Amino acid sequence: FHVDWDLVTAEKAGFDHFMMKEIYDQPKAYRDTIGSRISEDGSRVVLDEIGMTADEIRRIRNIHIVACGTAYHAGLVGKSVIEKLVRIPVEADVASEYRYRAPIITPETLVIVVSQSGETADTLAALREAKRSGARVLAITNVVGSSVSREADDVLVTWAGPEIAVASTKAYTTQLMAFYLLGLYLAQTLETLEQAEIVRTLAAMQSLPEQVESILARSEEIKAYAEKIASHEHLFFIGRGLDYAVALEGSLKLKEISYIHSEAYPAGELKHGTLALIEEGVPVIALGLQTELIEKTVSNIKEVTARGGEVLGIAYEGDNELAKSVDRTFSIPRTLDLLSPALTVIPLQLLSYYASLARGNDVDKPRNLAKSVTVE
Ligand code: G6P
Repeated sequence: FHVDWDLVTAEKAGFDHFMMKEIYDQPKAYRDTIGSRISEDGSRVVLDEIGMTADEIRRIRNIHIVACGTAYHAGLVGKSVIEKLVRIPVEADVASEYRYRAPIITPETLVIVVSQSGETADTLAALREAKRSGARVLAITNVVGSSVSREADDVLVTWAGPEIAVASTKAYTTQLMAFYLLGLYLAQTLETLEQAEIVRTLAAMQSLPEQVESILARSEEIKAYAEKIASHEHLFFIGRGLDYAVALEGSLKLKEISYIHSEAYPAGELKHGTLALIEEGVPVIALGLQTELIEKTVSNIKEVTARGGEVLGIAYEGDNELAKSVDRTFSIPRTLDLLSPALTVIPLQLLSYYASLARGNDVDKPRNLAKSVTVE
């Protein structure tokens, strides 16, 4: 009797690649990360793992978010979230830059390091630098017991489960969940947000897993688009505010595994440079989920279509204004604009996966890249 048991196949749970499995893990990863951190009555965030007292939180004057790669992109969303909810100034830096720019760190600075693996050399070095300067360090990491988690003062674990594919997906989205929870936690401690607003945001967060499922159920739409753009060598992502932060992550994902060159541009900045590169047939992905900015984004989309660029718009269901201005639309279920990155990134992850596949690349192990970079 012989059982041909292939462990790797088993770990992929029926998917062809780890990346796809991990994209589909996201609804569960959201639930696990939010999980017990929302009180049963849905009125407050419970972060028992944070040792900072209310007084210590009140003493925070500024926040630095430091990370590399995809974790840095989660940090860019985190910066907007914390500034909006808590009104404390936040800077986000790439770890390898942070260390050498002589950042102004005081004992009243909270430094947040974000690292899936908790072992990235530049991030770890930045953490040590911050501690030497007397700052309190909070780590957002996916690996319990990692170097970053051992050396930080406080640790907020993302419960994404092991991430194997080099291109990060569920680690990024659970880092977003960690930032939403942390932002709300600071806001409830500092009373910078109405109680009703906290309740509304927590309820919207709890709907995200199902909304992700509904997006994943339409992955064929993205597959068809990916096959269409797979023969292109250049692509552009545009967006404003939080949409720009997500555009950066979408662009990185596409570059990493499909090897299609892409750039993410703040939509309003297009006319100051990249517009020169838009010509007949160039694919452009426009994100328009920031309600107050949609009108402005639409006028930037028109600058693109007037030059022959072909636009895929990512918009809320029922947003006809944006839909009218683009060649095709992928719709996103309605949520709070602040939470939209947790949904908009999903089609972008799928796009890079299917584009990589269409080009015959090794999806899970892209050339020249490593999952964890422990050299500086
Ligand atoms: C490597 C990986 C990226 C990752 C970055 C930071 O470059 O290829 O996917 O975002 O490291 O990793 P970390 O484990 O610190 O989040």
